[in-house]
Amino acid sequence: MKKAIITSALPYANGEIHLGHVASTYLPADITTRFLKVNGTEAYYFCASDDFGTPILIQSEKENKTPEEYVKVWNKRDLEDFTSFGIGFDFFYRTSSPENISFVQQVFKKLQENGHIYEKEIIQFYCTIDKKFLPDRYVLGRCPYCKAEEQYSDLCEKCGRVPEEIEDPKCSICKNPPTKEKTRHYFFKLTNFADDLNKWLEADSYLQRDVKKYVQNWIKEGLVDWDITRDMNWGVPIPASTTGQVFYGWFDNHLAYISTALKFLNDRGINGKDFWNDADIYHFIGKDIVYHHYLFLPAMRIGIGNEFKLPDYIPTRGHLMLQSKKISKSRNWYIGLKDFLGIYPADYLRFYLALITPYSQDDLNFDWEEFASRINSELIGNIGNFVNRALGFTQKSMAGVVPGTTEFDQSDKDAQEKISKFSSELAVLMQDNSLDKALKKIIEFSAHFNQYFQKKEPWKGGAGSNNCILISVNAVRSLAISLYPFLPESSQKIWVQVGMDGLVSATPWNSMSELAIKEGHKIGISSPLFKKIEASDIEANKAKLGK
Ligand code: 2FM
Ligand code: ZN
Repeated sequence: MKKAIITSALPYANGEIHLGHVASTYLPADITTRFLKVNGTEAYYFCASDDFGTPILIQSEKENKTPEEYVKVWNKRDLEDFTSFGIGFDFFYRTSSPENISFVQQVFKKLQENGHIYEKEIIQFYCTIDKKFLPDRYVLGRCPYCKAEEQYSDLCEKCGRVPEEIEDPKCSICKNPPTKEKTRHYFFKLTNFADDLNKWLEADSYLQRDVKKYVQNWIKEGLVDWDITRDMNWGVPIPASTTGQVFYGWFDNHLAYISTALKFLNDRGINGKDFWNDADIYHFIGKDIVYHHYLFLPAMRIGIGNEFKLPDYIPTRGHLMLQSKKISKSRNWYIGLKDFLGIYPADYLRFYLALITPYSQDDLNFDWEEFASRINSELIGNIGNFVNRALGFTQKSMAGVVPGTTEFDQSDKDAQEKISKFSSELAVLMQDNSLDKALKKIIEFSAHFNQYFQKKEPWKGGAGSNNCILISVNAVRSLAISLYPFLPESSQKIWVQVGMDGLVSATPWNSMSELAIKEGHKIGISSPLFKKIEASDIEANKAKLGK
């Protein structure tokens, strides 16, 4: 049996999950995992909350909580929100787990033994009033590039650049100018890995070609060693250090992909390390963290002697815009996942996002009007309509029992061929990560059967009506199986309505191409699957933005 491990970028335990998070990362990973599982792969989907880092520490201090208390709240809430969106992690853990902490420390020691770590004295901002070093977000100032005020020393949110040195620096806690003090930090020799990284990128692989290209350009321009120490106490402690320093969050977080997998698999009596190395490894990410996943992460894995294989796939997608504008929490130009799911079913959002999210780094756009029209016309008007029509008619005219057939005419044969080719045609797109194209193919399939039903006019009771009923009911069954990765809840409803037992999730992918429903099969009770979206509600939803 083939094996796969799927991860998606770990969400910071620092605020709620919103639509921007799920479109590019969690939904594509979830759809892929569900597909792999029904298509005969032993696949596991792992994720964790990203618990460390200065923004989290600062926020917990503002809320008078310990960072441990603070991240616990978000870890729980994130998992709840993901679950209500149908994201089916096999395990959702945390980067602050004891397993991750000890794994990170072991990795550090191995990197040290292998000569990839060195110590260096550097100058850091220090606040004499708060009596602490001020890493990253603890310092605010003017961006040297675009002159925006109140920017963090490690990132200007206005121009998106990382300032070499922020102007007019101030301590973010007490707002006084900091001094500069010497401190010793550990560095990871990323520069040792330029050749290995290049080789890995050049190899014929499943990595996206355009991403590879610009990562290779970064390598050409020259890699820089990486400061992995932070002068604070919220993080993975540096082993054998007496300074109280911790590792930088990006040193430890991606290692939680591995430590989380090991914990889950070993606890189930599976050798986690063997499984990892036998599996296809997928890391789903958004394009903002390409540098970390195409350079730091593989370099660290190579640096410990390739004990854990490098990713096979790093599906990288663009950012979600909202009504064609950049998502911004501070301007309330965003939609929390929980709020959204309070208004519409998870499957509506899954359907729309899957449809508009290509397998590329192009940005995508959530548009309320388009959302409503796609749901009303494609999910309800096309798919829902076909399911309802085929099943409703079988109920009404045949008391819900599928009739026997006569010889197939050309349109029956075409329809049967559509069904028999469906699973393999779709599988190619799913394997290729073209999830949007796969969903469009399902919509086309449904449209074809709507037309077929319309042309055959079984309500007139002519010759071939029974063929039309049997084939259409089978097409409904095929639709349920094909839709399962995209719409786990609605596909199960269709499954039950068409009179199948058990779970659609337990049904092998290829069986969508069989005419498995035979004469005498009794369908279930059919009822409308979806409710139309009203234009007035869309206006109300739009009005909430930016307020
Ligand atoms: O950018 C982020 O949101 C990070 N929390 C992603 C971490 S993914 C990592 F663990 F590799
Ligand atoms: Zn201060």
